[in-house]
Amino acid sequence: MRNRTWPALLLGCALASAAAIGMSDADVLPALKALAPRGLLIGVALSQAQSDGKDAVALPIVTRHFNSITAENILKWENVHPETDRFVFEPADRFVDFGGKHDMFIVGHTLLWHQQTPASVFTGPDGSPIGREALLARLRTHIQTVVGRYRGRVHGWDVVNEALEEDGTLRNSKWRQILGEDYIAKAFEFAHQADPDAELYYNDFNLTKAAKRAGALRIVRQLKARGLRVDGVGDQGHWLLAWPAPEDIDSMLAEIGAAGVKAHITELDVDVLPRDERMYGADLDARKAFRAETNLYPDALPAGKHQELAARYADIFKVFVAHSRSVARVTFWGVTDRTSWLNNFPIPGRVNYPLLWDRAGQPKPAFHAVARVLEESRRDTAE
Ligand code: XIL
Repeated sequence: MRNRTWPALLLGCALASAAAIGMSDADVLPALKALAPRGLLIGVALSQAQSDGKDAVALPIVTRHFNSITAENILKWENVHPETDRFVFEPADRFVDFGGKHDMFIVGHTLLWHQQTPASVFTGPDGSPIGREALLARLRTHIQTVVGRYRGRVHGWDVVNEALEEDGTLRNSKWRQILGEDYIAKAFEFAHQADPDAELYYNDFNLTKAAKRAGALRIVRQLKARGLRVDGVGDQGHWLLAWPAPEDIDSMLAEIGAAGVKAHITELDVDVLPRDERMYGADLDARKAFRAETNLYPDALPAGKHQELAARYADIFKVFVAHSRSVARVTFWGVTDRTSWLNNFPIPGRVNYPLLWDRAGQPKPAFHAVARVLEESRRDTAE
């Protein structure tokens, strides 16, 4: 049995006596990774600054609480392979070294996506579009080179990211336009050739919506029908305070498990600011106005909102632990609120509070809520 958990009372005493002898909270907080049900990895996405060791606030949190890491940006095509004949591996090498040194399950994100991919991937030297064979060759080279370099060291890959529309049909990306529908299978095939031991995932958002989830499960069936390896389906888990409903998370995890693959929550955060479809629009003036109207907590999150966020995280984690046989990993998309991408999405320049640690690296009520749910789940299963 791994570390047993601490009853809440004991924890309270420990915190009080630790404070008396000048230890910080961070030294005595229960580690999330040790509280999690057996087999459930607790992961976090690292920025380049963090895997380079330059974020002194984040580092002790990462090493204490997490047993899996995902590269937030540095393994995306535009960063690792910015030009046809040029790869940039140094930051990714440091990221993989970091995970290896701390004995973490390392996730590579992502091999094929329609975003953060140079436009030149799809065009020849004269700027005209390339054809299927040429693009397949580029995809093969990319995947063989990147996955091959980290063979045996990166343990799982988000092979294809966000290939689906909301109705579950395939997104009409350049990949699909030029390669045709089997491009997903090709990416999985190349990844498996490059590292036969690596786990391979399909990753997308909004799989709590039945129609989109059906599309993801269709992809899984098609890969399996071709005899290809697929280990898991990732739902990003970029969620809001009031969406999605726990019942929909429950259905998603149940259906992914029933499809014979593991479920991964790959990019979890909970946006506390208002969202609106119009925020995604191109109208800059409208976006500026939205920022002004919706940047509700520029100085601090009010106590009531902290409690709301904590309750929301508790509800979410209750669903995860209820499905802990089919959920292999829950990864948070960032360490502290300071570096969350949600400070800049969908509108740049707002102050957001989506994670478990505040800007100073202090655990929020949401941290304690998650720790409590994990702890209770271990107690239940131990009885
Ligand atoms: C985001 C990163 O967090 C940002 O730093 C970057 O500017 C844009 O991409 N879905 C994904 C992630 O699969 O790769 C995205 O990460 C967030 C949405």
